Order: sequence, then C-alpha cells, then structure tokens
Amino acid sequence: MSLASPNVVNVKDLRRLARRRLPDAVFDYLDGAADDEVTLRDSEQAYKEVLFKPRFAVATPACDLSVTVLGHKLDLPFLLGPIGYSRLMHPRGELAASKAAGHHGTAYILSTMSGHTIEDVKAESAGPTFYQLYLAGGRGAAEGAIARVKAAGYKALFVTIDTPVAGNRERDVRNGMRQLMSPNWFHRIPYIPNILKHPRWLAGYMLDGMSRPFPNIVVPGSGPLAAIDVGAALQAAQVSWTDLKWIRQLWSGPIVIKGVMTADDARRSVDEGAQGIVVSTHAGRQLDGVAGSLRVLPGIVEAVKGKTEILFDGGIRRGADVVRAKALGADAVLLGRGYAYGLAAAGDAGIERAIEIFRADIIRTLTLLGCPSIGQIDSSYVAMRPGFRVD
Ligand code: GLV
Repeated sequence: MSLASPNVVNVKDLRRLARRRLPDAVFDYLDGAADDEVTLRDSEQAYKEVLFKPRFAVATPACDLSVTVLGHKLDLPFLLGPIGYSRLMHPRGELAASKAAGHHGTAYILSTMSGHTIEDVKAESAGPTFYQLYLAGGRGAAEGAIARVKAAGYKALFVTIDTPVAGNRERDVRNGMRQLMSPNWFHRIPYIPNILKHPRWLAGYMLDGMSRPFPNIVVPGSGPLAAIDVGAALQAAQVSWTDLKWIRQLWSGPIVIKGVMTADDARRSVDEGAQGIVVSTHAGRQLDGVAGSLRVLPGIVEAVKGKTEILFDGGIRRGADVVRAKALGADAVLLGRGYAYGLAAAGDAGIERAIEIFRADIIRTLTLLGCPSIGQIDSSYVAMRPGFRVD
C-alpha cells in the first residue's frame, strides 16, 4: 500500500485507507461522534464560511511556520492532540505519535486513555510532551499519573472539562464496542465476523497482546484499570473546578483547560489560573448540537486574548484550516483525526505522511495569501460569511 501521491494526496485519502484496515468498531470509534453528529459536520462546515483575502504580487521568502506554545518554540503551528485508544488503532499507537511530533519539532499530548506508558511515550521524543488528564479511576489514580508525568518530564497538564458523562456515540453502540471490550468472549461473538474481514489489523492486534489494561490509570490497591469501553471510562472521568484546585496542589507546571466553548468558561479558566485553554467540542463526541468550534473562536479571542494562550481544535482536515484558525486568533491548533487516520492506516509512516501533507498545505496557503509567516497571519486575511459567528 502506497502512501505517496497520487494514492494519498490529502487527509481524506488517509481516512479511506484507515477504513479499509480497521474493523468497523475501531474505525467508527475514531471517525464517529455523538448523536446525529451535527457538531462534527458543523466543525468541518465552519471552515468553508471563512473566506481568504489574498495579497498578490508580494514577494514571500521561505515561510516560517514556528509558534511558541507554553514557552516552547515549536517548528509547526499544530500539535498532535490526545486520542484515546490509539494503540487499538495501531500497535505503535501513542509511541508513533510522540515520535513523529518530536521528529517534526512539535509537541504531543498523551491521553489518559492510552495504551502505552507515560514513560515509554516520553522516551520517543526529545520535544515537549504534555499530558491530558481525566479523573478516570478516581483521585488516587490521577495522583499516581501526575507523579509519573512529572518524573518523566512532561511539561503541561491538559485538563478536559467537557466529559461530565460520555457522549452518546451511537456508532460505538451498534458496533458492540462495549461487548468487544468485555472479558466475556460469548458477548463478543456477534461482532467477530467483521473483525475477521480485517486480517492485517487483527494480526497486529494479536501480536500486540490483544486487550490490555490502561497502563496510565493505576488504581491504588487494585492496579491498572482493565480495558473497558470508552463510555464506561468517560463516565468516571468528570472534572470540576473544585478538582482543579486539588490538581494545582499536585502540579506546579502549566495547566491548560480543554473543552472551552464560551467566553464565560474562557474567563473562568483565566480566573482559575490556567496558562492556556483549548477551544474544543471534543471532536463532536460529547454534547451534540454545539457549534463547530471555529464559530466560537472570535468571541473567545475577544474575551481572553493576551490573558491565556488560546489553543484550538475541531474539524481540521487541511493546512488551510490551520491558517483560518490562526487568522481568527488561535495561538496554535491541535490535530486529532487529522493525524489519527494516518496512524490507523499505516502506523508511523501514516502519521509522517499526514504531517507532511499539513506542512505543505500551510506553506502553500500562506504563500498564496502573500503572508510571509504563520506568525503574521491575522483577521485582515479572512472574511467571515454573515451568520458565521456564534457568541
Ligand atoms: C476519548 O476521550 C474519546 O473522546 O473517545
């Protein structure tokens, strides 16, 4: 399978290859979202309502794509965001993402729901690595994870606030994600024929030891949390502003609040001492019916720009989308599915290809815009269609 052009020219091509390699249960976990997936679709639609205003016939020397995030200079304006169950998508999972981020001079954010250890993931990258924290497994488990994250040299905690319960991901229900994770083989039987249609994925999964506990959710007294479906895991993941005060006592480094969708929550994050926020709908996987995250970005930027760093994710499938989010005021963006389709299609090589595609797209877009660097892009390069903004 070739990852080169013309077989793979964009992220949609990586998605097509991922769909071919993965069983439905795993592909839909990655590709799907909550309820009617209105937010997921709106996240992608919103970019089409931000139009470019190019400056032609200006000389643009080699394009600088670097940004600074939480005091770290990154060579790219995008980070690789946290993706749960990456090891299910490919045995290299979080290791591949960490390595690719380090190789390209950017940062990786490891999810609590990860399959490789905090320590092994850090060892793959000389670049900055951050940790996304859920309280799954309770405070005891989180305390252990924070101590390990600190010892391993992670540089920031990303605390996700949008999961008071798991979103209603109907594709996961239909595909038997819960039954497939159950220790009872009998429950898995109806879903096995589809898995057998994906022998390349299955061989990798079997060689990787099949269903494993979560190595980074270690419940004191009972060990690593057994592999459970995402619904059950997220059910126990809720974080409140009170928990944040407790986390602050354990972690003196930067804290970033992930899942901010209103100016009020952005201001609250600043008041709670957050060094950053991530404007995010959790990829449309939690509350369906919220606006695509790009639509709320301008209002949040007006509310807190300069008071905290503004990171952004949701629906980014092209380098031009990264440029639009930067133009509307994001300091940097997180890729999610944008690189995970590559991981699922071909492991390390697939993520490398995704990053290459994004980098080339961003450089081309900036050059066509007549903008010499990502640092110089601003709202004067774009126009929002009427009705675009949601405040
Ligand atoms: C995990 O955080 C997920 O959204 O599936």
